[in-house]
Amino acid sequence: METKIRPMQWSDLDAVGQLRPEGWGDILPPIIFYLNDPACMTFVAERADRIIGVANGTDWGQTGWVGPIIVDASSRGQGLGSLLTKTIMEGLQAKGCRTLLLIATEFGKPVYEKLGFIGDSRYCFLKAEQQADFEAYSGSIPLRAAHPSDLPMLSELDQRAAGERRISVLEKLLQNNGGWVVPREDGSGIRGYYLHGAPWGSGPIVAEDEEAGCRLLQQAFVVEKHLSAGVSEHNHKAIEYLQRIGFTIVTYADRMVLGEHPVWHPDMIYSRISGSLG
Ligand SMILES: CC(C)(COP(=O)(O)OP(=O)(O)OC[C@H]1O[C@@H](n2cnc3c(N)ncnc32)[C@H](O)[C@@H]1OP(=O)(O)O)[C@@H](O)C(=O)NCCC(=O)NCCS
Repeated sequence: METKIRPMQWSDLDAVGQLRPEGWGDILPPIIFYLNDPACMTFVAERADRIIGVANGTDWGQTGWVGPIIVDASSRGQGLGSLLTKTIMEGLQAKGCRTLLLIATEFGKPVYEKLGFIGDSRYCFLKAEQQADFEAYSGSIPLRAAHPSDLPMLSELDQRAAGERRISVLEKLLQNNGGWVVPREDGSGIRGYYLHGAPWGSGPIVAEDEEAGCRLLQQAFVVEKHLSAGVSEHNHKAIEYLQRIGFTIVTYADRMVLGEHPVWHPDMIYSRISGSLG
């Protein structure tokens, strides 16, 4: 039976929502974000008028992110995940992305390895098992609400940390939901930012020093009651802080790269953007 890969339409939304893999949350909020974002390309796999897969790619210029890639459980092992991944890879490469990145689940890893992706490090995921006493570790560094005019400073700091130009998603999160920044005392810029209210849950936290990074993490947990966190395994300071306030490591996932590895500073990233955006 013929399988067609085509751009996702708004009318596919309900059918795509049914593809939610076991153990995952609702996949529609991020999918809606991708459909509304010109930096994203979202495709579906259709067979006999039934949607059996979905895939997204995000174009950040020199770099592009692949994911999520999801195939309906009854249609796996037939090459569809690989076909969807290749479609996204070709789409991003045609737009000029020289480096492709992704965060792999255990299901995805063998598919991506066969397509040439190489693991470069791991993300570490932590959870607070009970309501920890976050207040006990209150820092005293002042924060202020982020303002749309902070975007250039925020993007400069982010680019230094990620080695990628992620400004399109930062702009959207800043406009939609805002967040917090730690201003430098001399007024010369910001030490860190946290953008909250992303449709998939926690948002990015990036900071140039430990004090600012942990203060923003605390803001995410104390004010917004987030009880999960995802950081690079190389950000020892963030992991130590999280463990001190009651988080435990629950799992790891590979960060994989195809092409030139961006020069990044994972020790500046206190919370990733999402499982599909780094
Ligand atoms: C990851 C995922 C998308 C893979 O989809 P899939 O359609 O099963 O992928 P493929 O069929 O291309 O590849 C899976 C396996 O089938 C094999 N395969 C490929 N073509 C095949 C064919 N024609 N016949 C039989 N097997 C085939 C692949 O070699 C691979 O085997 P391996 O595990 O030994 O490497 C799917 O498992 C999924 O949706 N998982 C849940 C969501 C998820 O984790 N997504 C990844 C996010 S990073």
